[in-house]
Amino acid sequence: MATNLATTAPADLNTPVDLSGPVEQVLTDLHTTLKRSRRFDIGFPGAVDLTFPALAGLFTTQLLNNVGDPFDLGHGRNHTKQVEQQVINTIADLLRAPASRWGYVTTGSTEGNLHALDAAWQTYPDVVVYTSTAAHYSVAKAARMLKLPLIMVRADDTGQMDYDDLAGQLSLRRDRAAIIVATAGTVMTEAVDNVTRIVEICHTMAITRRLVHVDAALSGIPLALLPDAERPAFDFTAGATSIVISGHKFLSTLMPCGVLVYAQPPHTPLHARVAYTGSVDSTISGSRSGHTPLILWHVLQTLGTEGLRARAQASRDLAAYTHAQLGQVGWEATRNPYAFTVVLRTPPAAVRDKWVLADDGQYSHIVCAPGITQVQIDDFLTDLQAAREHRAASPTAVPEPTRRRFLRSPR
Ligand SMILES: Cc1ncc(COP(=O)(O)O)c(C=O)c1O
Repeated sequence: MATNLATTAPADLNTPVDLSGPVEQVLTDLHTTLKRSRRFDIGFPGAVDLTFPALAGLFTTQLLNNVGDPFDLGHGRNHTKQVEQQVINTIADLLRAPASRWGYVTTGSTEGNLHALDAAWQTYPDVVVYTSTAAHYSVAKAARMLKLPLIMVRADDTGQMDYDDLAGQLSLRRDRAAIIVATAGTVMTEAVDNVTRIVEICHTMAITRRLVHVDAALSGIPLALLPDAERPAFDFTAGATSIVISGHKFLSTLMPCGVLVYAQPPHTPLHARVAYTGSVDSTISGSRSGHTPLILWHVLQTLGTEGLRARAQASRDLAAYTHAQLGQVGWEATRNPYAFTVVLRTPPAAVRDKWVLADDGQYSHIVCAPGITQVQIDDFLTDLQAAREHRAASPTAVPEPTRRRFLRSPR
């Protein structure tokens, strides 16, 4: 369809798979379509470089239900709670959590954000939630579901929280408890909020009834793998009281999941031991996957810290390459420090029809997650150039959109 590009995407990529055939045929067609379209998926942070044949038996023949608290095994035996405990501890170590830690494997960071706000309300019923306009929509959703007051704090042009605005907002409600939801890797620009500064601001205001939850869905693990001197202030040693990361992003679990870690078990008077499961009801959902802890465990065990670190660096190198190449062809782009994400002026529609880019209506981004290759980036750049040249050569072409204010490059 996009004839002005250097190459066209297979015409049938957007055609739904015919579900009326025999089951085997439908599954083969679905798999083929998904594999072919993967090449053009460069806008979302799900890593796709790992496969798990060793888990096939457990995944296809075994019911696994980690119902309730992971540290309370309960009546059933068909669970992987010991594996889950090891996953929580490995992630907690990477995030430099104290020994008093607690956590569980969630369905994703959305659930982790909801749990953190619920725990905040159980600790401080008068709590006010503060987060930035660059935070993920799940934070506002969780506040809405829990009927908690939510204050949106300005974000600067790089996507980082505006600390002066936070201080101003906190100063208006010094009598109220606060939970500040910081983000380590904002959705559009992968900016990282500075938890040390947030804690200092609370300290200056004498807001002692406070919690700092970090939504580190995307960048928590990659940032934790940086050398100490380069590591941004986002983890427990910076003052976080809870952190969530997503498994299906950097850790490539292929199925959505997350790991939520608290510095200490949250104050949860509503959590009671449920007689019939034999476990404490400390999680958002009751029945929980026993398979996702296994896949997380497999990634952590087989790659180890060094393997994970090498993957993170390869992604950063590719992001730096992408940023540099966009600069070379004169297409506005920016990248935050250590980010896998490259933010660029939104390409013409023909390019967006073929390449799956995240677009917020103002600008677009590419996420160089593990599994994205330089060949894909080069093909994208070739298409971008071709679309531009086509537009320049065509007297009837719709002019490029007028320049909007573009993101400032981080210093
Ligand atoms: C910063 C941030 N928080 C939360 C989420 C939601 O995470 P999940 O899909 O694991 O629920 C995302 C997803 O992209 C994200 O980028």
